[in-house]
Amino acid sequence: MSVVSAEGMKRAAARAALATVTHGMRLGLGTGSTAAHFVDLLGARVKEGLSVVCVPTSERTRAQAESLGLTLSTLDETPQLDLAIDGADEFDASLRLIKGGGGALLREKIVAAASERMFVIADATKEVKTLGAFPLPVEIDRFGARATFLHIERAARGLGLIGPLTLRETAPGEPFVTDGGHYTVDCAFGAIDDPDALATRLSAIPGVVDHGLFIGLATAIIVGVSDGVRIIG
Ligand code: 5RP
Repeated sequence: MSVVSAEGMKRAAARAALATVTHGMRLGLGTGSTAAHFVDLLGARVKEGLSVVCVPTSERTRAQAESLGLTLSTLDETPQLDLAIDGADEFDASLRLIKGGGGALLREKIVAAASERMFVIADATKEVKTLGAFPLPVEIDRFGARATFLHIERAARGLGLIGPLTLRETAPGEPFVTDGGHYTVDCAFGAIDDPDALATRLSAIPGVVDHGLFIGLATAIIVGVSDGVRIIG
């Protein structure tokens, strides 16, 4: 019996995603440990002669890509991408995702939306029947954060979702600040029976910059499993 670690499954998914990358592609690079496997493997292929242009979704990914000698661009210079490769905190059978655990959901969503296709790479532990076991990250403007927090609570309650909301911190009393200069609220709602309705409600709140529900963005999910990969979509 082969025992493959979560890291091994992430690496397998990243390797399978890399196999779809061809010369000259414009790529969106995700954020997180799974995306980091992809960037690492991509760096090795580029050293062997593959030529691609990459738009990173975070300063963290930018630093990694830079250190590997990848050709970097921005969405201002390269507003249309061929493929975004990114991880997820959770996914369901309908290709709906929760993202943002790594604090980069806004740029990840902008890059995914600018890409013709988005391949999600994840280990099998991220698959769920119903989204919501992972607290949903919501990126909010710093101005009026407390008021926005209350709006989120009220909007969720309207859908029967009640759960503790927590302002993400890097240390007690020190809010985590995203690359875009915003705060993140982690919403532990539990099972989200209607992600589409919640996404609509959250997007309508003025102080919400964006939320971690990615719906209709993923083209396919490459799931690392114990004996290779499984493709959903
Ligand atoms: C970052 C993300 C990541 O893709 C998500 O948190 C998954 O991370 P990991 O691959 O480390 O499990 O959304 O904002």
